[in-house]
Amino acid sequence: MQGLTRPDLKQIYERGLRDFETARTLAELEDLRVRYLGRKAELTNLLRSIPELPQQERPEVGRFGNLVKRELEQALESARKDLEQAELAKGLEKDRVDVTLPGRPWPLGHLHLIEQTRREIEDIFVGLGYDVVQGPEIETDYHNFEALNHPEDHPARSLHDTFFVDETILLRTHTSPVQVRVMEQQPPPLYLIAPGKTYRRDSDATHTPMFHQVEGLVVDRGVTLADLKGTLDTFAKKMFGEERQIRLRPHYFPFTEPSVEVDVSCMACNGQGCRLCKRSGWLEILGAGMVDPNVFGFVGIDPEEYSGFAFGMGVERIAMLKYGVTDLRLFYENDLRFLRQF
Ligand code: DAH
Repeated sequence: MQGLTRPDLKQIYERGLRDFETARTLAELEDLRVRYLGRKAELTNLLRSIPELPQQERPEVGRFGNLVKRELEQALESARKDLEQAELAKGLEKDRVDVTLPGRPWPLGHLHLIEQTRREIEDIFVGLGYDVVQGPEIETDYHNFEALNHPEDHPARSLHDTFFVDETILLRTHTSPVQVRVMEQQPPPLYLIAPGKTYRRDSDATHTPMFHQVEGLVVDRGVTLADLKGTLDTFAKKMFGEERQIRLRPHYFPFTEPSVEVDVSCMACNGQGCRLCKRSGWLEILGAGMVDPNVFGFVGIDPEEYSGFAFGMGVERIAMLKYGVTDLRLFYENDLRFLRQF
């Protein structure tokens, strides 16, 4: 190539500097690098043609050409650094987080009121030294009824509105069969509670087909009705407040003799009589009694040597009384406005 001169190189140099400065992105700059310094660039071609120049021009043009190339490379490098800085700054600005802003509150659940109440009941009896045991929800007729002294055709059976699986298998209608299962397997002394789900074909403001009970059983030498009363008095005070009193009313259950229903003095009116307690001053909280010797007969415990008491309470009922819930169905509708209050 003839006629390569310093002005040619100077022109390329000046154009390059200008273009590098106006590049707005790294991609644009990369295009310019290829255009000015790439293998097919004008400058590269010119430099390659230097050997074709007349002998006396070569050193000078060569020196100048290499200077232009180096300068352009430096200018490109510094433009690249500027653009990188700018792009980093833009990215940081876009992703900026104000770490002083308060966090978004994460909704936290809590235990359902029935579960809370079951644990409260459990804690009280565990504090008295009782064990917590469980039994199956699908029960035999034998454990649910017969060994609890409900012979076949016993009228009390019909009070239970039982869900039957088949002739001898059913959904337990109360937690009392756990008493039988434990006594079958363990010798006295026994101090235990058995919380769990129970089932009856029943559904209205005070009944749901599934509900919860906590059963209690004590079997030891010399256990009396006074022990039962003292235990339940302690329970009522811990559950409903130290001012509460209890009273025992005679009742009938097939598996206890004598049997009682236990009332607690009304927490709404302190026993004065109000709408909650229907003016009586008392609220029924559970059934209880001394273990019937016939039940001991089924499980092979000698009633001459041992005696015991038992009790059973509805967890929903306890929760309703303690927390002033008036409709049992609220527990199972899962309306968060209700659940969040507890
Ligand atoms: N199982 C009875 C029921 O569901 C409650 C009950 C009463 C349990 C007296 C007992 C008891 O252990 O002694 O209605």
